[in-house]
Amino acid sequence: EKGGYDHFMLKEIYEQPRAIKDTYRGRLLADQGLVKMSGIEQNMEKFINANRIIIVACGTSWHAGLVAEYIFEDLARIPVEVEYASEFRYRNPVITDKDVLIAISQSGETADTLAAIKLAKEKGAFVFGVCNVVGSSIARETDAGAYTHAGPEIGVASTKAFTTQITVLTLIALRLAKAKGEFSETKYREYLTELETIPSKVEKSLESNALIEIIADVYKDSTNCLYLGRGYNFPVALEGALKLKEISYIHAEGYPAAEMKHGPIALIDEHMPVFVIATKKGHYEKVVSNIQEIKSRKGKIIAIVTEGDEQVRDLADHVIEVPETLESLTPLLTTIPLQLLSYHIAVMRGCNVDQPRNLAKSVTVE
Ligand code: M6R
Repeated sequence: EKGGYDHFMLKEIYEQPRAIKDTYRGRLLADQGLVKMSGIEQNMEKFINANRIIIVACGTSWHAGLVAEYIFEDLARIPVEVEYASEFRYRNPVITDKDVLIAISQSGETADTLAAIKLAKEKGAFVFGVCNVVGSSIARETDAGAYTHAGPEIGVASTKAFTTQITVLTLIALRLAKAKGEFSETKYREYLTELETIPSKVEKSLESNALIEIIADVYKDSTNCLYLGRGYNFPVALEGALKLKEISYIHAEGYPAAEMKHGPIALIDEHMPVFVIATKKGHYEKVVSNIQEIKSRKGKIIAIVTEGDEQVRDLADHVIEVPETLESLTPLLTTIPLQLLSYHIAVMRGCNVDQPRNLAKSVTVE
């Protein structure tokens, strides 16, 4: 049932090109310049007249929500707030019937996310679900929604659920951007065509697996790691750190790269591996200077770069390439090497990759 892979997690990492395709099948019609999603079409007025979108989720799904914040604000120009469901539900939040709440959940059973939905509904907000499990509690409790169609995710560490959540949320943002007139026809078509190339670019990113295994072997005995990114790739840094923590039990922190000088840079010495997402678009030069700051303090740098990059290659101890794409789509690629890296480190440390200690696949209690 693991399809020849040693673990479900690895199988699910490799399923991502297919899963992303399944997510946009019938929804992304690039040749016709269309995005079709019934849950959005039927509620278009609610979305485009919304005061703001509030995204609630937990864990990896919360990280997908953070990526969505960048996409929705950048492309569709709708204000977004991203909330941990567990904090939102107990905060006496200000919610009105002009708000749209998007709940993101792979399992559709997360207790805090479900409670946040119920609260928002009581206050009159329109609630939209992004779930993977069909017919789950969250799918039933929401007013409308879009499934990710990633297929069953068995590994406790979320992988394909994350990239397919980002795919669905990107489709929604693009459709809303079009409806609001934020995009020219040409720009819209450019996005749709590029999104269609993502599965093959994920495939290409997976080809770094052998190199990543070598890098994993170098850093497998670390006791701490840092993950840095900016813009669209800041949430990817958080996700990279979470993946390492939960399956390898190595302490890791994700930070927006520019926050380093406000504290965490004090941690840097020759024993600290720092994983930096430094793709060509999106604050590239600024990330390069962040890398220089780490290097001058003897930190070890493992950088995720765009194919053909020279500048970071000269500075970093290791580089892992991903294909070039539009800035807003880079998280779908930069996530892949970080998933593989955590996987290999966990295997080398003899950890139970698919069922890490103290964790459950769905968190049905608060
Ligand atoms: O099923 P959900 O997406 O609601 O689950 C949310 C989190 O519990 C989940 O993403 C968790 O953080 C994963 N183990 C991360 O890999």
